[in-house]
Amino acid sequence: MKALIIEQNGEPSEVVHWRDLPEPTPGPAEVRVRMLMAPVHPSDLHIIRGRFARQRQPVLPASPGTEGVGIIDAVGSDVPHTRVGERVVLLDVPGTWREQVISPAARAIPVPAAISDEDAAQALINPMTAWAMTMSEHQLQRGDWLVQSAAGSTVGRLVLQIAKAQGVHTINLVRRAEQVAEIQKLGGDIVLCTADESWPEQLVKATDGKGIVCAIDCVAGRTGATLARQLAPNGRLLVYGALSSHRQTDPAAFEMPVFAPALIYSSAEVRGWLIFSWLARKGLDESSQALRNLLDSIAVGCLKPPATERYSVDRAFEAFTAAESTAHDAKPLLVFAQR
Ligand SMILES: NC(=O)c1ccc[n+]([C@@H]2O[C@H](COP(=O)([O-])OP(=O)(O)OC[C@H]3O[C@@H](n4cnc5c(N)ncnc54)[C@H](OP(=O)(O)O)[C@@H]3O)[C@@H](O)[C@H]2O)c1
Repeated sequence: MKALIIEQNGEPSEVVHWRDLPEPTPGPAEVRVRMLMAPVHPSDLHIIRGRFARQRQPVLPASPGTEGVGIIDAVGSDVPHTRVGERVVLLDVPGTWREQVISPAARAIPVPAAISDEDAAQALINPMTAWAMTMSEHQLQRGDWLVQSAAGSTVGRLVLQIAKAQGVHTINLVRRAEQVAEIQKLGGDIVLCTADESWPEQLVKATDGKGIVCAIDCVAGRTGATLARQLAPNGRLLVYGALSSHRQTDPAAFEMPVFAPALIYSSAEVRGWLIFSWLARKGLDESSQALRNLLDSIAVGCLKPPATERYSVDRAFEAFTAAESTAHDAKPLLVFAQR
């Protein structure tokens, strides 16, 4: 079997190679999954560059890839043989950019027939992040307001769908003026463009001067710092990404200057958020149930992952470039096999 492999960290176009590997055999409680597709997420490129959370950097050589869809083609001795042929998504099984992946059987979650391979391939990281931050962490209720940055991102668009379904109002930040109308059309109640220098004042106005109660931010830097400064008493900002630092090498680019008095006097909270820590905190039973619920929502059309573009493995480098290009409107998917 073949796998996309990194032997050292560096630029994805230089260090990712398509290598031959021995066919893996599942252990007693494991399954082997013939991978169909896996997405290219910003975090995958971080891992390749060696810039992700230290505890999540794989020991090299390793395959990148944090999720994907495939078909079980072999099972270990403790796993019912009836699972062979089942289409599954993998729940926190790293290293999915390969033709065959070994997974604990309990982490191979069946996919309802109504879901396309494209939607299934990206059902975990971004949908779970959007759902967990809004409904589990912020526990948003009908009528609440949420502020989010990078509203045009995959996560942002999923958050908009969840908010609309739950009757939650949103204030959305985008960086390009042409995205304002698009996000309004997707149900964003208020959309501000950070290219407009007066956006912080517009944000104050949008909260009626009361400040932000709940926010999620994946831009960090000045954008995240501005959100932190405008937190209401006991307001809470979850920082889950740092897009403004991507591709940067200057250490200052990784900082998010928080205005201390605003935090102190409002007893507000700025907290980092990572899906893998959340999944670990919840444990396998709860997190696999949460994934099954998301798959059910996708199956009945209540949640729709954004558009995708397929890339065969020989076009993997194009997929990496697309994943980081400005105004890309589709999530790149690496295709390892056809059904
Ligand atoms: N902490 C976690 O567990 C977790 C889980 C999932 C995702 N994330 C993070 O969430 C972020 C979004 O992921 P995704 O898969 O949804 O991304 P995506 O679909 O690739 O979208 C990226 C979006 O971010 C915008 N953007 C890029 N650089 C920006 C910058 N410097 N300032 C403002 N906006 C910027 C882009 O705007 P344009 O359209 O203008 O290019 C685009 O709308 C990433 O940082 C990712 O690592 C974190």
